Amino acid sequence: MSKNKKQPAPAPERAETEPTIAAGGGSAWPFVLLGVILFGCFLHVENTGGAFRADVYQAGMKTPPPQADEPPEVKAFKRGAQLYAAGCAGCHQATGLGSAPLNFPPLAGSEWVLREKPDRLVRIILNAIEGPITVKQVAYDNNAMLQFKDIYSDEDIAAIATFVRGNAEWGNSFGFVTPQQVKVIRDASASMGSQKWRAETLAPIP
Ligand code: HEC
Repeated sequence: MSKNKKQPAPAPERAETEPTIAAGGGSAWPFVLLGVILFGCFLHVENTGGAFRADVYQAGMKTPPPQADEPPEVKAFKRGAQLYAAGCAGCHQATGLGSAPLNFPPLAGSEWVLREKPDRLVRIILNAIEGPITVKQVAYDNNAMLQFKDIYSDEDIAAIATFVRGNAEWGNSFGFVTPQQVKVIRDASASMGSQKWRAETLAPIP
């Protein structure tokens, strides 16, 4: 008796295969669902990425398409957007508007950022700034700003500065900051060690 029961053991395997095929025919739902999801993604890209013009390259940061032949300033801007999101947005916010109640000043429209040269911004990213500072006529005094000199390379800081100074969505419209510019400033401020800038020590920097 028991031998007879064991012998046809492979049968269930076949039996399982057939219902699967049958079920495949009847269960188009996963595909319909997938279609709906993909269509949703398509709509999302249409709504967010599709509205941007190709010549407004910062807009591309939202849906960065991998392109090998992008100009260096476009690459830097996109990289800067990622680094900003990771390293700065927690305090200065994704909008660049900061938060007056939390004592985080804005970078959008900031007179410390939007200068002829990126020299103050790069210094602030490298060594940070503390003590009382007025930005867009609002007073801040918060020593929470981090130093990025030991965290980010010249390329990284140049990319962040390019993103912050050139972010049209924030109303900022300055151009490409190069890693060479960052290197010169990094070397010039090396003697500061881990000292932070203050509004008054940064004032002589154009
Ligand atoms: C942990 C919070 C924090 C992070 C992270 C941070 N900051 Fe700041 N940042 C501050 C605070 C606070 C001040 C104001 C300092 C003061 O009161 O003197 C400031 C000031 C500034 C200023 C000068 C004032 C202004 O609003 O223009 C700039 C420029 C700036 N930060 C840029 C950056 C950039 C770029 C990054 C990322 C690489 C960054 N910060 C990351 C907190 C932060």
